[in-house]
Amino acid sequence: MSRTIAFIGNGNLGTAIARLAVDAGYDVVLSNSRGPETLADAVTGLGDRARATTPAEAARAAGLVVVSMPFHAHDKLPAEALAGKIVVDAMHYFPDRDGRIEELEERRTTSSELLQRHLPGSRVVKTLVNMDFLRMHTSARRSGHPERSALPLTGDDPAAKAEVTGFLDAIGYDAVDVGRLADSWRHEAGTPVNVLPYVGEPPEGMNQEQAHEWLFTGPSAVVGAGRVEELTGQATRTGRVGLYLEDLFPVGN
Ligand SMILES: NC(=O)c1ccc[n+]([C@@H]2O[C@H](COP(=O)([O-])OP(=O)(O)OC[C@H]3O[C@@H](n4cnc5c(N)ncnc54)[C@H](OP(=O)(O)O)[C@@H]3O)[C@@H](O)[C@H]2O)c1
Repeated sequence: MSRTIAFIGNGNLGTAIARLAVDAGYDVVLSNSRGPETLADAVTGLGDRARATTPAEAARAAGLVVVSMPFHAHDKLPAEALAGKIVVDAMHYFPDRDGRIEELEERRTTSSELLQRHLPGSRVVKTLVNMDFLRMHTSARRSGHPERSALPLTGDDPAAKAEVTGFLDAIGYDAVDVGRLADSWRHEAGTPVNVLPYVGEPPEGMNQEQAHEWLFTGPSAVVGAGRVEELTGQATRTGRVGLYLEDLFPVGN
């Protein structure tokens, strides 16, 4: 695999993944919507292996492009520049943030399939969405480490999935292949494998504010490949779409 990874969207999650990539020896090319000058601090923080450019130039710079921005902007992605590339879909659809998309609300398709529809020349693989950006960084472990966690992954192209599995391996995670993009609802926001297993057992009696804080500051838990398989197998396509704290565990007001 090329030693350069491109990023479109470098906020919380994108920058955490870029940090892991740099630590694993990759060069990284960052981008966002406001322009490379607004990423100067991120580039400085990541060091000599990082630079920033526009989304289209970032897409041209690497074979593997991590997309980590609000899902509502997915149709602004530069499809031509991304043709021939592996696109890692590290996005969730949140109706409150992204606006209601009826096809998704009615579960006629998945957000990753919509992304693939916008990028017909790319090979989309969904992963890196199931833990928060803070733990994404702190939970990474080298291959074979007893406390290494696994992340689910879905995609339609086996070779692309193999490349992304290699990337996950390099940055500190095992990968569990959960199927095609049509199956990606099994690891979307609000499903059993999302967020909570990587945090651990929530204390009882938290109110909304405490629960929200605990999700980011609570302990981390190791989630092995077998557990990811179990949890993605337990997912159902019922209930509301998106991530709601009170759907994860009981919280007071
Ligand atoms: N944060 C997490 O822990 C976490 C965990 C799992 C999944 N996710 C998913 O990851 C995605 C990013 O979340 P985040 O928390 O990292 O968000 P964030 O901190 O708000 O960062 C969003 C990034 O996307 C960029 N962006 C927005 N519109 C763009 C466009 N049209 N073209 C290029 N870049 C654009 C923003 O740059 P500008 O400001 O320049 O627009 C910013 O760099 C979301 O889909 C979220 O659901 C996040």
